[in-house]
Amino acid sequence: MNNVSMDQLISLCKRRGFIFPGSEIYGGLANAWDFGPLGVALKNNIKRSWWQTFVEERDDMYGLDAALLMNRKVWQASGHESTFSDPLIECKNCHERFREDQLPPEKKCPSCGKQEFTQPQQFNLMLKTFLGPAEEDANIVYFRPETAQAMFVDFKQIVDTYSPKLPFGIAQIGKAFRNEITPGNFIFRTREFEQMEIEYFIKPGDDWNVYFEQWLAAMKAWMKKIGIDQNKTHDLEVPKEELAHYSKRTIDIEFDFPFGRKELYGLAYRGDFDLTNHKQEYFNEETKERVVPHVIEPSFGVERSVLAVLASAYQEDEIEGEKRTWLNLPMRIAPYRAAVFPLLSNKPELIEKAQEVRKELQGAWPGFFPIAFDKSGNIGKRYRRQDEIGTPYCFTVDFQTLQDNTITVRDRNTMKQERIVIAEARKFLEEKLRE
Ligand code: GAP
Repeated sequence: MNNVSMDQLISLCKRRGFIFPGSEIYGGLANAWDFGPLGVALKNNIKRSWWQTFVEERDDMYGLDAALLMNRKVWQASGHESTFSDPLIECKNCHERFREDQLPPEKKCPSCGKQEFTQPQQFNLMLKTFLGPAEEDANIVYFRPETAQAMFVDFKQIVDTYSPKLPFGIAQIGKAFRNEITPGNFIFRTREFEQMEIEYFIKPGDDWNVYFEQWLAAMKAWMKKIGIDQNKTHDLEVPKEELAHYSKRTIDIEFDFPFGRKELYGLAYRGDFDLTNHKQEYFNEETKERVVPHVIEPSFGVERSVLAVLASAYQEDEIEGEKRTWLNLPMRIAPYRAAVFPLLSNKPELIEKAQEVRKELQGAWPGFFPIAFDKSGNIGKRYRRQDEIGTPYCFTVDFQTLQDNTITVRDRNTMKQERIVIAEARKFLEEKLRE
């Protein structure tokens, strides 16, 4: 098991352009983070893998991409306007504000150490804005605090158009906003983040425990696929008194982040709470009955996935007295599937051949098979650069390539090299991708 610190992760992310502070040239904006070229590639690969697994590879799922801004009545019906709040307290000495439920056990102010606070006030977490030019109550809208509600609100649309049989699900990936009192720990808790959520609708009389367990297993299988270290994940059965207002049972899948064990994902049984609130029903063609389906909700945060994947993948070792930092990312989510190098940067014939190999590897869909190209510095340095961003394989074009169309392929994890013919290289990668 690797033990990475937040400083190591944050520094790697900044150094290699994965993630860095937003608005930095203007002094930044508290807890806003931007994803650079490698970060967005990693994030997109995680989202793509999720969508493939939970939507495209199943025949009981329907995809959705709803508007971020929804009618205010949605949040009144869902209970968010009245109950989606955290207890806010203020330190009477330094006037810093905190969530009461996140104070350390000794109840001391995390900023100044004093122990005197104001009475807690419920602070609603929804971010507000106004539609149109007049900033008045009638024009208030909220940025959605979760993607979930759109799937209940559009339930009728999906049922009317596709006539799905129960059980079936709706899935969505998209931004959510929460005016968190204490954001922090890099991208772990931010005010703007992305969710990947599923609302799985089941017949009211069916044993929901069965579906709950199936979804827990499906979540775990996907986590393994994207390289989340299973030794660092734990299921927390949320005690009844701490359940969210809509939930009848929740398991938080927690992860041992460098700053402690915290929630990574959630799985909730929401009963008929949501469809009842939105006055939605389902007409069962077989029994000719109108029913209100019950809901199982697997909910995933994109940024927390990125953080857990990076914390799982981060490795350091020593090669001939030099420290090597590398990311043990699965090939399916690594920003680059492979890299191609010409052995020397001043030999046009090697560069030209290496470009040809790169094209060959990318095939007809370069976007789906991104291959890095690097010709600067010595080969050892280029390997290190690719190791640090998690590229699993590096191909090198040398003088022998010009004679016999073979190239070397070097494995990130074992650092072993072998020679293969160019015509086999694409197949080599495709086989590794399937492993
Ligand atoms: N629809 C249910 C729901 O939204 P949640 O536990 O509040 O449940 C689901 O959020 C997931 O969204 C969390 O498990 C986490 O991965 C992610 N998440 C929630 N708040 C977040 C924040 N402020 N920053 C980053 N990710 C967050």
